Amino acid sequence: MKAAQTPQEPPDDHVVVLFGATGDLARRKLLPGLYRLDRAGLMPRRFRIVGSAPAASALTDEEFRAHARDAVREFGTGEATGPQWEAFEATLSFGAADPEDPQPLLDAVGAAERAVGGGPRRLCHLAVPPSAFASVVAMLGRTGLADGARVIIEKPFGTDLASARALNETVHAVFDESRVFRIDHFLGKESVDNILALRFANGLFEPVWNREHISHVQIDVPETIGIEGRAGFFEETGTFRDMVVTHLFQVLGFVAMEPPASLGAQDLREEKTRVFRAMEPLDPAHVVRGQYAGYRAEPGVDPHSDTETFVALRTGIDNPRWAGVPFHLRSGKSLGQRRQVVSLHFRRPPLELFPDRPRTGPAAHGNALVVDFDDPGWIAARFLVKEPGPAMRLCPARMDFRYADSFRQQHGLEGYERLILDAMLGDQALFTRADGIERLWEVSDPLLRNPRPVQPYAAGSWGPAAAEELIAPHHWYLPDMAADDPGSGTP
Ligand code: BG6
Repeated sequence: MKAAQTPQEPPDDHVVVLFGATGDLARRKLLPGLYRLDRAGLMPRRFRIVGSAPAASALTDEEFRAHARDAVREFGTGEATGPQWEAFEATLSFGAADPEDPQPLLDAVGAAERAVGGGPRRLCHLAVPPSAFASVVAMLGRTGLADGARVIIEKPFGTDLASARALNETVHAVFDESRVFRIDHFLGKESVDNILALRFANGLFEPVWNREHISHVQIDVPETIGIEGRAGFFEETGTFRDMVVTHLFQVLGFVAMEPPASLGAQDLREEKTRVFRAMEPLDPAHVVRGQYAGYRAEPGVDPHSDTETFVALRTGIDNPRWAGVPFHLRSGKSLGQRRQVVSLHFRRPPLELFPDRPRTGPAAHGNALVVDFDDPGWIAARFLVKEPGPAMRLCPARMDFRYADSFRQQHGLEGYERLILDAMLGDQALFTRADGIERLWEVSDPLLRNPRPVQPYAAGSWGPAAAEELIAPHHWYLPDMAADDPGSGTP
């Protein structure tokens, strides 16, 4: 089977202004991602990329190019040499900007726009710490850089309802909503997008995607990494804001939405936001907060820190499709495996024809549809078959679809790459709307006001034991039920 490539017009000519150009995200994802888009022939015909940072960490154009070259070598998929790299490198320049002195940036953007010629579009990507969003947006407004421009804003968008509302007000004073792209790179992942195809293109799945057939849903994103030296960011943020509000709730929106009238941005975002409106406010008693042993000794972490590095929670969606179906979400650092998995668990058939069916172990669990959305991703249906032999004994079986085996990958884009391309094309379908993010902070409010203390867990484990109690009488799909998954050995 081969992927059908939809021929697509390249985006209009652009000047991309990358704030936080010397930071971690730019180095790991954005600079390698922009180069990958260029190599895939997906960048505009004419474009320039202007890096920016405060004057204290300003670079010359040459230094910025060397910085990008190192980033592509370390984190990119292609060589940073040869004519293609040289042509890309020639598009890079740097302009420092402090709130009181944005002139170097204005000069660099002016020069880049003249070099492109013909009135290119401007896309400002705010890859800066959340505490700097408001001041950069205000500066864009004051200097006129915002005029006609689009803006990509990183996450987390606010830290609670009040701050998200205030940030939306600041942003809307400068950009109307049609030019705002609140990014969540999970929604750019192929297999998350594929949830829409799986659900709405298939008569096999669409009719059973509801409370009548599904007993519970899990969205599980354990990570093996710790905080990777990001103590400052993590102490302020914690796993609930960093992963759950930002990524897992967005995936939940895709899993739970009603069929949209179209896949256009307006319809898709409306349906996702309707799911958020129907979400039950989080009950702190249904949230387990954990912290890995050793976290408090990490450099830069408060020795008495109550920041969570693990969250497991139960929520529900109060609408006719999902009433009474628990949604269990879990994510944490320093856990036993890195996985990104949605699993839908089906009710058992009403008639018990198999009295010998095991009460424990994999055969007891019955049917599940599992979507692994870590790149490149796969989907598996788990069901029961008869074990060969004279007795009617059941054993678990699986049908798999694997992206990596079925499609040529050379144009497969990473989440960030796909979303930057969408922003250049002006397509907001996979970006979060202002009211959507505000509603997510609203449902989070009871937890944020009254969090239970963190419970310790050993690094390399699956979090505090309370997470098992939370999901009872069900079980987490990972790791036991997933022992033979294609991705189960992934470090
Ligand atoms: C980021 C979080 O948004 O997503 C990180 O800040 C997390 O803490 C990362 O590790 C996971 O993303 P990926 O690219 O590994 O799927």
